[in-house]
Amino acid sequence: MTLELGDKLLRLNQASETRPSSFHLLGREWDLLDGVFAPVYCFSTRLFASWIPYREGGSLLEIGSGTGVVAVTAALNGCSRVTAVDISAAAVENTRRNALRHGVEDRVRTLRSDLFAALDPEDRYDTIFWNSSFIDPPADHVQETDLHRAIFDPGYQAHRAYLRDAARHLAPGGRLLLGFSNLGNDERLRTLAEEEGLEIVPLESSGTTLVPGVEYRLLELVSPPGK
Ligand SMILES: C[S@@+](CC[C@H](N)C(=O)[O-])C[C@H]1O[C@@H](n2cnc3c(N)ncnc32)[C@H](O)[C@@H]1O
Repeated sequence: MTLELGDKLLRLNQASETRPSSFHLLGREWDLLDGVFAPVYCFSTRLFASWIPYREGGSLLEIGSGTGVVAVTAALNGCSRVTAVDISAAAVENTRRNALRHGVEDRVRTLRSDLFAALDPEDRYDTIFWNSSFIDPPADHVQETDLHRAIFDPGYQAHRAYLRDAARHLAPGGRLLLGFSNLGNDERLRTLAEEEGLEIVPLESSGTTLVPGVEYRLLELVSPPGK
């Protein structure tokens, strides 16, 4: 079922004749560019954007910003410094446009980056978040387009690097968050977290009635004291 849902989401996102060029979400209108993960075909973006504990006056790094809904919402909710990165050039441009559209371009920096690669090694954030590409496809899966990368993570390579490298960019007391789902590979995520000495703490859940059988979860990855 998981793979079928992933493929269905991919097809919806790829159907340029039915994709809108803008959408309404969380009380605002947003630009949507072709090839960028569209928050209109599933609930993840709106749930995570509503659940993230934005720190007033704090800084936030969004990995994989897509259209920029989370990054812009963070800035509008009191974060004084937001960096939004994405591996997709179209997503970076989409985030830039939505930051401009909502008047927060002074606080939202956009950057094309494979996870943390393009950040300055000294960059630190109070909160790091990724609404992840949580579907773990079969071994023969090919990431043909950026949209594939927005939905699938073969072998959980990107998840592995996210858990491994985030700590270098967390400010003291900073929080590492992950937007995940029961469509993701729980077992593999648990193993990766253990390898990095992290514990997975569930913060929020949609339950399984909003979308029958699908649960969106906001997780926090914490280093237990003494580790
Ligand atoms: C599920 S989409 C979420 C998009 C957006 N944050 C939202 O909530 O609507 C995952 C995003 O992660 C990005 N992504 C996937 N792998 C990445 C990587 N290695 N580095 C940076 N971004 C990545 C994708 O391009 C996509 O925009």
